[in-house]
Amino acid sequence: MIECPNIQKTVIRNHYDVSTLFYRLLWGPHIHHGYWLADETPAAAQIQLTSTLSTQANIQPHSVVYDIGCGMGGSSIWLAKNLQCHVTGVTLSPVQRQWAAVSSALKRISPKPTFRCHDAETISFSNESADVVWSIECTEHLFDKPTFFQKAATWIKPGGRFALCAWLAGESPMSSSHQQQALRVCEGMFCPSLGSQSDYVSWFENAGLKVTAKGIWTDQVKETWAICRKRVERTGVRYLAKVLGKNHVLFLDHFDAILNAYNSGAMEYGYFVAEKV
Ligand SMILES: C[S@@+](CC[C@H](N)C(=O)[O-])C[C@H]1O[C@@H](n2cnc3c(N)ncnc32)[C@H](O)[C@@H]1O
Repeated sequence: MIECPNIQKTVIRNHYDVSTLFYRLLWGPHIHHGYWLADETPAAAQIQLTSTLSTQANIQPHSVVYDIGCGMGGSSIWLAKNLQCHVTGVTLSPVQRQWAAVSSALKRISPKPTFRCHDAETISFSNESADVVWSIECTEHLFDKPTFFQKAATWIKPGGRFALCAWLAGESPMSSSHQQQALRVCEGMFCPSLGSQSDYVSWFENAGLKVTAKGIWTDQVKETWAICRKRVERTGVRYLAKVLGKNHVLFLDHFDAILNAYNSGAMEYGYFVAEKV
């Protein structure tokens, strides 16, 4: 695991409060990588990542889903609209909570997702109340990942599943240059740590969940950053970021760092499905 002790939760919250508008303008309603099998548009590739994870996790219609780190509600809305899931989305950012609620209301999504502004590391849900805990690209931001997985496992009904996508550190032992590359990404993208695929498997298993599917999607997702870089160059987003503060410029300046880390193997992009047996 790569650790980056300087990150603060207030900085993560502020980043998402301020940059949600950037994400929406630059990328779309889903704040996650696209998943390419051919020459899909970026918008189609984003939805394809959501739908592919949903298929891998075999999410059934009408499931109760907790979407941890729900962003602008992209997955929550997709799951409610396409599978009539009863979704509660959780985000650290009050701006995102409001955005997700308005977006789902404007789209008249039914069943209507509920959005809560809360820290996933302190939120509680009733024991065995969820068919699915879903989390795309949020656990990178959590400070005590093993404890979060222990807690989340208690929310899942027997036979229910945890479906997750995450940026991963390469497997240990990592060379010092790979460690530096992954650390640079953590600093720029506000991740207190990055686990490897093996770390995630052990966190699931120690929480009593059986990993039934997992895989590395780096090659299918990494195009995301080349597209984002081009879009930043073509627009005035960098000037806006300068006005908003140095952390936002830091974020934009790290698109190459993540692409390099993917290309060198210092980082990978992984998905997991884990079942409560
Ligand atoms: C990269 S975005 C992913 C958003 C969403 N899953 C999607 O795919 O569109 C990361 C999300 O994790 C949330 N997040 C980060 N730390 C969190 C925490 N401690 N508790 C709840 N949400 C958190 C952020 O607010 C943001 O919504």
